[in-house]
Amino acid sequence: MTCIVSGFKLLCLCLLFGAVASRPTAGPKVFNVGRFGAKGDGKTDNTYAFTNVWKSACSTSGNSQIYVPKGTFCLGGVEFIGPCKSKIEFIIDGTLLAPSNPDDIKQVIWINFRYINNLSISGNGTLDGQGKHSWPLNDCHINTNCPKLPMNMGFAFVNDSSIEGITSLNSKMGHFNFFSVHQFNITNVTITAPGHSPNTDGIKIGSSSNMNISNTHIGTGDDCIAILSGTTNLDISNVTCGPGHGISVGSLGRNKNEKDVKRLTVRDIVFNGTSDGIRIKTWESSASEIVVSDFVYENIKMIDVKNPINIDQKYCPYPPCEIEKKGESHVQIQDVKLKNIYGTSKTKAAVNLQCSKSFPCKNVQLIDINLNYNGRSEFCPATAVCQNVEGSTRGQMVPCEIKSS
Ligand SMILES: *[C@@H]1O[C@H](CO)[C@@H](O)[C@H](O)[C@H]1NC(C)=O
Ligand SMILES: *[C@@H]1O[C@H](CO)[C@@H](O)[C@H](O)[C@H]1NC(C)=O
Ligand SMILES: *[C@@H]1O[C@H](CO)[C@@H](O)[C@H](O)[C@H]1NC(C)=O
Ligand SMILES: *[C@@H]1O[C@H](CO)[C@@H](O)[C@H](O)[C@H]1NC(C)=O
Ligand SMILES: *[C@@H]1O[C@H](CO)[C@@H](O)[C@H](O)[C@H]1NC(C)=O
Ligand SMILES: *[C@@H]1O[C@H](CO)[C@@H](O)[C@H](O)[C@H]1NC(C)=O
Ligand SMILES: *[C@@H]1O[C@H](CO)[C@@H](O)[C@H](O)[C@H]1NC(C)=O
Ligand SMILES: *[C@@H]1O[C@H](CO)[C@@H](O)[C@H](O)[C@H]1NC(C)=O
Repeated sequence: MTCIVSGFKLLCLCLLFGAVASRPTAGPKVFNVGRFGAKGDGKTDNTYAFTNVWKSACSTSGNSQIYVPKGTFCLGGVEFIGPCKSKIEFIIDGTLLAPSNPDDIKQVIWINFRYINNLSISGNGTLDGQGKHSWPLNDCHINTNCPKLPMNMGFAFVNDSSIEGITSLNSKMGHFNFFSVHQFNITNVTITAPGHSPNTDGIKIGSSSNMNISNTHIGTGDDCIAILSGTTNLDISNVTCGPGHGISVGSLGRNKNEKDVKRLTVRDIVFNGTSDGIRIKTWESSASEIVVSDFVYENIKMIDVKNPINIDQKYCPYPPCEIEKKGESHVQIQDVKLKNIYGTSKTKAAVNLQCSKSFPCKNVQLIDINLNYNGRSEFCPATAVCQNVEGSTRGQMVPCEIKSS
């Protein structure tokens, strides 16, 4: 008799629990990596634990949260692949530490997200790529078959997602890679590597649309932001860049099947001590005929920048150009507005617009440009050099004299 009663009680309790758990107001289900055997002791290899956490969170219906607490978590190459059953919040408060030997990562991106919608990554944590030991192995400037060193974090075929708050440190190659990503916000992110670290691009974007990058500091050894073929509707605001090679579109035109780059807005930016600021580069010897258009650069401060404004349609840092002599770039640049660009240039040619002879730049508007050649006191010592440019100037113009050749 007593047995039956307690059995009945148990059943009631279960029903009650079921009712509570299925209430729609319940928060996300939390997956703390510690509960999957991960240890933030700076020694344990957590690759397997992280892979399992992802599998569990991704296959859970109802929103889930993956949580990495404070601590140092050694992590090998991981792939986080969807589609997942619902939204995933990935909160990183600890440090993820890459193997210092690049061969131990075994993939081109250390932490790689693919085929996912509704992912948000946030937290106070750091992705430490430990690139110091890999940088000397990079000979890409002289060797076209150079070893592919892994990037820190990548997103491919990811929509409606975001990254907020985290830091990427000392990647072996680039820090963040985006390919075929749509509707994505990057905000309050910090990207750091030494100015001398080779090919450590901050954020690399290709074949993607509707991305926002804001409130972010990038100091690295290559482009702060590199914008590649097929990128549209990209909004970059309140970003500081330095050291680094600036915010760079391209290089474009080298390969067949490249796509247009359209609707780029870059505003409220500080370039501090960078080699370049605003830069568009297209290959002299170009295989694709594409259009680069509807760009706005506004409210941009240059501090000791070597080449503040540079459109280079004769880009060819290494062969085949000299050998093949394919001639002028076939990339059409048009509808580019540069407004309120000010500060100091480290070289005399502060504005350098070298456009294609076959496809001259069209509708380039320069409004309120005030760039001074650093260290010179004479009035208007900086110069502008322009080739094959159609457009207009308005407002204050320093360099005042546009030299056409
Ligand atoms: C993403 O989340 C939003 C809001 O919950 C939802 O409306 C949308 O359908 C989700 N998108 C995808 C592709 O899962
Ligand atoms: C960041 O760290 C602070 C203090 O350690 C903590 O209170 C806060 O919740 C963390 N923020 C996030 C988004 O994890
Ligand atoms: C992501 O967005 C793109 C562009 O809107 C769309 O073509 C693609 O189907 C979306 N992918 C998924 C998995 O929802
Ligand atoms: C991006 O941010 C904007 C506003 O800042 C917000 O409306 C939008 O929902 C965010 N998108 C994603 C995918 O997080
Ligand atoms: C930005 O991120 C840092 C941690 O990386 C955090 O401490 C700070 O509160 C965040 N700021 C905003 C405005 O979210
Ligand atoms: C980017 O920000 C603008 C406003 O600054 C907002 O209208 C837009 O929805 C955002 N884009 C995304 C992908 O969230
Ligand atoms: C610009 O970004 C910085 C962080 O990089 C932040 O502290 C500041 O509040 C942002 N300013 C605006 C106007 O959003
Ligand atoms: C520019 O960079 C220098 C050297 O890192 C630093 O001392 C200075 O404070 C920076 N200036 C601004 C305005 O950020």
